[in-house]
Amino acid sequence: MLPPADSLAPEWLVVPEDANDLASGVWPASAVRDADGVLEIAGVSAADLARTYGTPLLVLDEDEVRGRARAFRTAFDQAASDHGTTAQVYYAGKAFLSTTVARWVVDEGLRVDVCTGGELEVALAAGVSPESLGFHGNNKSTAELERAVIAGVGTIIVDSAIEIERLAAITARTGAVQRVLVRVISGVHAETHEFLATAHEDQKFGFPLAEAEVAVARIRELPGLDFAGLHCHIGSQIFGVAGFRESASRVLELHAALLDGGPVPLLNLGGGFGIAYTRVDDPTPIEVLAGEIVSAVAEGCAARGIPVPALSFEPGRAIVGTAGVTLYEVGTTKDVTVESGAVRRYVSVDGGMSDNARTALYGAQFSARLASRIGVGEPQLSRVVGKHCESGDIVVDHEYLPADLVPGDLLAVPATGAYCASLASNYNHVPRPPIVAVRDGRSRIIVRGETIDDLLARDAGIDGAHAPEGDR
Ligand code: LLP
Repeated sequence: MLPPADSLAPEWLVVPEDANDLASGVWPASAVRDADGVLEIAGVSAADLARTYGTPLLVLDEDEVRGRARAFRTAFDQAASDHGTTAQVYYAGKAFLSTTVARWVVDEGLRVDVCTGGELEVALAAGVSPESLGFHGNNKSTAELERAVIAGVGTIIVDSAIEIERLAAITARTGAVQRVLVRVISGVHAETHEFLATAHEDQKFGFPLAEAEVAVARIRELPGLDFAGLHCHIGSQIFGVAGFRESASRVLELHAALLDGGPVPLLNLGGGFGIAYTRVDDPTPIEVLAGEIVSAVAEGCAARGIPVPALSFEPGRAIVGTAGVTLYEVGTTKDVTVESGAVRRYVSVDGGMSDNARTALYGAQFSARLASRIGVGEPQLSRVVGKHCESGDIVVDHEYLPADLVPGDLLAVPATGAYCASLASNYNHVPRPPIVAVRDGRSRIIVRGETIDDLLARDAGIDGAHAPEGDR
């Protein structure tokens, strides 16, 4: 069905036959409607979840996370063994990290990539073996690096010449030998939002290919550093394989040149694998991606007459993204008529840009469905907005929702497992929502919700709040 000619709907958004359907690939595989039409995830009713934990609520389907972690591991193991090498998969914790999720992915055979001292502490608190951690970041402080070296973090991915000298000093002081990778920018501009592309030239990460040789030479002369190879991450939410192939080929040129000066056992090609946020998104299946990327590396190595290195990858979004569904309660609805006469319905929910900043930050598209019942009204072009004090506080920019949506209804936004909780804020002093894991008909809190007491606790002007540390 096509929207009316004066519709405010974007071209890609089609009027659904049924505004209650759950598009496949966008929701966790376990998401269904029960006999009463209520959304159910992993056998747990959204209405029960909202009653038990309140809204907004981030629901994470444990089996979806575990299944995707396993699928990545199996796909890359298979592709690597087809080409006579091995592959490690690191879960990129920046997508969403809690001790529980760290344990799930480790349980499924993954390692963990952290990119700040805070993420490092969560992974260590989860009991992840330090040896299986990778530590990223363009501005790791001396204190963060020292903590990582002393804790025995397996790999530190160095990002600058200054960081090399920081590590040289730390390892000289502690007597440790630290394995490092050198992050390079391959010059490939991934086809994604500008802020999500990370390997083009004019940005802050890594060494340009032309400067990396000098960095590697310096590392090789330091007794406390063990150079293991190169790292390149081209960006995030990428659908095709062309960018990965091109980048791998450019990085292999340098990898081959570095073999003249000593061993280069590893190559880490980062993460960035896209997921479906709406029904029009069509990510490449992981088996295909893994096969094509590893083949590209193997072909590049064969062409240069060099051995295929051990490979690693760092998916974040593709592991947790689809596993997350955010539940909101509808508070108000408002039909706004614009100059052309077209109408857009604003549906205000009890969260917003504080629990999902992606729409405001990247113009990201999400989808939504009425979760507490089947809607019987015609599909109505709607915009789901939050409760924050600015008009850019949009959760779902464009969606057709049943016209009979009313205050008190529950709304579910799928594909919020990645980069929603991890980007959450307290804007307007809105507490961050709890995170609940669901599996086999049961639910449990994995991160408790923030309370007003939590918010007040840091305000030194309130009696009984955290005492000020004194005048400075
Ligand atoms: N490895 C490195 C070095 C990275 O910088 C990233 C993401 C990843 C792996 C994982 O990428 P993924 O597989 O999740 O695409 N906040 C943005 C995404 C920022 C990604 C930053 N780096 C968003 O909400 O889309």
